[in-house]
Amino acid sequence: MEKKYLINTYGCQMNVHESEKIAGILESRGYIKTTDESVANVIVFNTCCIRENAENHAEGNIGMLKKLRLSRDDLLIAVCGCMTQQDGKAQALKKKFPFIDIIFGTHNLEEFGRLLDEKEHQKKTLIEVWDKEKAICESVTPSRTSYPNAWVNIMYGCNNFCTYCIVPYVRGRERSRNSNEIFNEVKSLICQGYKEITLLGQNVNSYGNDNENEISFPELLDKLATIEGKYRLRFMTSHPKDFTKELIEVMAKHKNICNLIHLPVQAGSNNVLQRMNRRYTAQDYIQKVELLHSLIPDCAISSDIMIGFPGETEQDFIDTINLVKKVKFNTAFTFVYSRRSGTKADLMDDQVPEDIKKDRIMRLVELQNNLTRESATPYLGKTIEILCEDYDDKKDLYQGRDEYGKMGYFKSNKNLIGEFVNIKITETAGVALVGEIVD
Ligand code: 5AD
Ligand code: SF4
Repeated sequence: MEKKYLINTYGCQMNVHESEKIAGILESRGYIKTTDESVANVIVFNTCCIRENAENHAEGNIGMLKKLRLSRDDLLIAVCGCMTQQDGKAQALKKKFPFIDIIFGTHNLEEFGRLLDEKEHQKKTLIEVWDKEKAICESVTPSRTSYPNAWVNIMYGCNNFCTYCIVPYVRGRERSRNSNEIFNEVKSLICQGYKEITLLGQNVNSYGNDNENEISFPELLDKLATIEGKYRLRFMTSHPKDFTKELIEVMAKHKNICNLIHLPVQAGSNNVLQRMNRRYTAQDYIQKVELLHSLIPDCAISSDIMIGFPGETEQDFIDTINLVKKVKFNTAFTFVYSRRSGTKADLMDDQVPEDIKKDRIMRLVELQNNLTRESATPYLGKTIEILCEDYDDKKDLYQGRDEYGKMGYFKSNKNLIGEFVNIKITETAGVALVGEIVD
């Protein structure tokens, strides 16, 4: 009988791609993907611990599987991802959910196949979480799920230690992949027909800093953009402190590098930025945005913005609001600060009360929603090129994004997934654009 697997993924793009690697391991062992828990033989929870609610969400869902797991001997439950890398967390999970079969971490993801074999010979929960980061995981071929888009890790870990953030503790120090390996992977993806490649790293701008023989991020991007074929390149995330003119120049030089940059600002108050250990001021950030626009006038910017950091006053919050109004982000992910055990901010004694956080996030989200909606208006009547990514069966429309990340919908009798399509925008419905194909 065929064995089936299901992976539940929480958190960021990095985790989505790691789930593709886990799927690759399972498929190489003959497992087939399913979306039905009741027939799965392996259910994996690939967790995230960057914010409290992501963690609670994963734990809630693990808890709900208790009955199913206890009723079936042919089902195995595995929990992995950065949540398991926290100090003492694997043991705590085992205690809370003794029905979990395997717990492993981000650093030993490639070991999952071996752990599956080992588990066959033992009854109790198998825990294998490495506290030291392994050099780089190169041996797993991911089972990609997002054609025509593909993600490629260029580096792992983070050295920045923003005071609110748990990532450096659970993902370790920065480790860059070899640039030739990255080049070969991207080239092979383009040969296979992938049309949009997104390079992933916690701070792509410090790519290569951990190895003096390695090229820099702008050099890597420049090299990748010369690969033949019709495709787009994106990358995330860029830390503003390391965002340079050299990188902007490479973006300006190549048409296939999308004019969209994800540049998390976090806050608009210098006091808060300093306590966050972000190592730039609001003025530095705005200057970099101005430099970007002087070289690439149409470049869109997306951001991460956090409210409720310890000690954030009403005036600090207004500074953030004013920065958002000035920069006019095309899109922004907005977060309520959540305490993460082991971080410096968790020890700060001026935590912001929940009701104030609630009020501020609502004001910020309303402002950003208006800005995002406004950024759609100039599209009316324009023809844009989108990469068709999917078919929305509820709307009966195909969908895809332009280089600035805006989603466009259109009708077609033919399956155009994976094709670049020109559409003329006839309607801007909130954040989404609706158009008709033109030749
Ligand atoms: N609370 C809320 N948001 C956080 N982020 C990181 N740590 C926290 C935290 N403790 C947000 C930051 C980061 C994004 C990926 O998640 O805005 O850029
Ligand atoms: Fe976390 Fe800061 Fe590193 Fe981003 S740069 S992963 S926010 S520590």
